[in-house]
This record gives sequence, C-alpha cells and structure tokens, in this order.
Amino acid sequence: MPNTVVVGTQWGDEGKGKIVDLLTAEADLVVRFQGGNNAGHTLVVEGNKFIFHLIPSGILYEGKKCLIGNGLVVDPGVLLKEMENLEQAGIHVGPERLALSEKAHIIMPYHKALDLAREAAKGKEKIGTTGRGIGPCYEDKAARVGIRAIDLTEPDTLEKKINACLKEKNFYLERFLESEALDSEGVLREALTFGEKLSPFLTDVSLELEEALKQHKNILFEGAQGTHLDIDHGTYPFVTSSNPVAGAACAGAGIGPGQLHHIVGVVKAYTTRVGAGPFVTELTDKTGDFIQERGKEFGSTTGRRRRCGWLDLVVLRDSARFNGLNSLAITKLDVLTGLETVRVCIAYAWEGQMLQSRPASLTRFAKCTPVYKALPGWQEDISGARRLEDLPAQARAYLDLIQEETNIPLSIVSVGPAREETIMIQNPFHS
Ligand code: IMP
Repeated sequence: MPNTVVVGTQWGDEGKGKIVDLLTAEADLVVRFQGGNNAGHTLVVEGNKFIFHLIPSGILYEGKKCLIGNGLVVDPGVLLKEMENLEQAGIHVGPERLALSEKAHIIMPYHKALDLAREAAKGKEKIGTTGRGIGPCYEDKAARVGIRAIDLTEPDTLEKKINACLKEKNFYLERFLESEALDSEGVLREALTFGEKLSPFLTDVSLELEEALKQHKNILFEGAQGTHLDIDHGTYPFVTSSNPVAGAACAGAGIGPGQLHHIVGVVKAYTTRVGAGPFVTELTDKTGDFIQERGKEFGSTTGRRRRCGWLDLVVLRDSARFNGLNSLAITKLDVLTGLETVRVCIAYAWEGQMLQSRPASLTRFAKCTPVYKALPGWQEDISGARRLEDLPAQARAYLDLIQEETNIPLSIVSVGPAREETIMIQNPFHS
C-alpha cells in the first residue's frame, strides 16, 4: 500500500484537516514533519470540538499511532494542553498512541518574545506571523543553539544551553527591541517540568517508521501550512520558516524519498491568505466578502480574517512542480455555490508578458495582474453530491479546467465540512 503525503498547494488553510481525517481511516501511522503550532484545524466529533495545532487529528481514531517528527518546532506547553484536552474528552493519549521526536526543536519563551517584539518593531512592514515563536526557533536550529526535546531531560545540558542563549537574547530583547528580558531560572524550571511530563513520549521517529515499513504498515504524512509559504519556494519573505513541500517529509521524519509513494495536493476551490504579502487574485469587493463569509475564512490559530480571492492556477502549477503531485484534493467547492460567474487565473500579465509561473522577485510579483478565464457559476446545493455525475455541469466544468490546466488527476472533491460530504474519486491509499 502506498505511503501518502498530504500537502497544501496554496498559502495554507486549504482544508488539509478534513482530507487528512478522511485518509487516516486507511493509515496505521500519521506523521507530522514540519511547522509547529502556527498550524491549526478544528474537528467536531460526536459533539466535541477539538482544535489541533500539533497533534495529528488521527489521534481521534482508535489504534492509530501519531508521530511528531524532528522537523517540527514544538511548544511543549501547547502540546501538553492538547493532550490534556483530549484526556478530558475521554481520549486517552499514552505513549503507545503519541510520540515526539527526541530531535524536534523546542519553542522557548524567548522565541515567542522575539517573534512578537520583532513584528511590533516592524510596524507596517510586518510579516504577519502567528506570533508563536516559529521563526526564532528555526533560526536557533540553523544557528546550532536550539534546544531539542531530548535536552529537556538532561538538566545540566539544558541549563548551560539556556544560560548561553539568554545572554544573547536578553541583550537583543532589551537593548534593541526595547522589550523585557527573561529570567533564566524561571525558563529553566518550566522547561524541566515540561521535560518530565514529555519524557515518556520521546522517541526516535525514524526507527519507528523503519519498523512500520518492515511490517508494511500504511503511513500518512501530514503537511502543515502551504507550498507558497515554503521558506525556499514561497513568496519570500512572506513565508513561514519551514518547508511545507512534500520533500520535507523525508528530512522532517527521517525516511528516504523512495518511501513516499503518493503526494496529494490539497487545493481550496478559491484562494486565501492570512498575514501580509502580495496576492494577485485577491478580491476586495463584495465577491471577496461573499467567499469570506460563506467559507468562514477566519484563522483557527489566530482568529484573523483571511484575505480571499479567485483560484490561482499559476500558484497551483508551481505547487505541482515543487511537490511532484500525484493527485489533487479539491476542498470547499460548495462555498462557490450561488455565484453567477466564477473566475480562474490561468496566467499573470507582467509588463506586456504572459507569465506561466510566479516570478522570484516579490517586486515583480506584486506588479503581476491576473489573466482570468470566466466560467458560469452554479446555483444548486452540491453538498449532497457523492459522485462527480451528481454535480451540476458548471461545477464539473470548473473541476475539468483545474485538471486540464495542471494535468493532474483529481482524487477527492469535498463539498461540505462533514466527512460524508465528499466525492472520493480515487483513494490515494488504493492507487
Ligand atoms: P509564522 O509561521 O508564524 O512565522 O508566520 C509566517 C507567515 O505564515 C504568516 O503570514 C502566517 O500568517 C503564515 N502562516 C503560518 N502558519 C499558517 C497556517 O497554518 N495557515 C496559514 N498561514 C500560516
């Protein structure tokens, strides 16, 4: 059975949560490989509402093992809170169900302080980060001064590392960012408490995956954020600090590329963005408001109103290449119901040229204008559709255009938030 990777093809918030939830039914293990609690999705199961930022939602299925890979940056307080919420809802989360890579980097209080103070200092130029300390934590990882999960279990090592780090961070926080310094004893005490609580969950994710592969188990790799927030391939500097592209599943979990068999790109039927940065198909008119309201486009991590716009196939074609997509999962098609006309951006116009891919220069990108193809909309409620044939001809034409322009087959079409409001064309685990 093929191991499957689910990635976002746009700027995050594509509805990966629902697709991951559907595919988890076929998986034995669910693995996250990058990002941190900048991600978030909400699931309602039997009247209980769960918001997940770190733990794969696969935890709600009995018998599935959820792994948090080395590629993540983990806020231990947030992780423990998520575990506690699950326990309160009667879902026991023991080490047999959930494990955290010993090598994952830990978001420390100074990472959050730096993230917030820097954004505040940037004023209008800010990136619009989630303020969760993601960037500063990845910076420390690259600078080789990061704290890894395993360090939380070694008090002497931890103390030395925290003291060395805080010397520099406090100087920077106080003297440059005019913010408050942190007390190293308090930081150490809290980190050690977290370490005690998390130590039973620490594991070598790579070894666990090797064992699972030997036993021919199905592995689902759950990407966070979206391809155009990728630090290498996204709209830099308006990006996150990790690699949400599929290839990162290897480095972020400790397996080889040959073990990834099917890459599903999740595509929202329109485009959204939270945070700053150019957005070619953005709609600041009534149609944008319609999509925002109908799609309930508020961030589940920060509650911010998401910017909305038409589907951008330039973005999608770039994503197909960066990820090597094998199939597309289209989400929230139902949100477009009721529009007289739907538009799809098929190219960018820039200084008299037609661009088929996004320019690296952000200055050029900001000057690109969309070249649209207009299609007639549909008025019928499509949430009851379970086969492509059940959709109105206009909705099918919309899907056909996406398929033709990207040359990638559709595996799933989601027509509503519920599990059953889905057209399963070809389950990636069965391909
Ligand atoms: P950071 O990841 O908090 O550093 O934020 C960097 C950029 O990525 C900001 O524009 C955020 O709004 C965006 N971002 C981070 N995580 C997500 C996500 O899960 N969905 C959508 N946007 C995100």
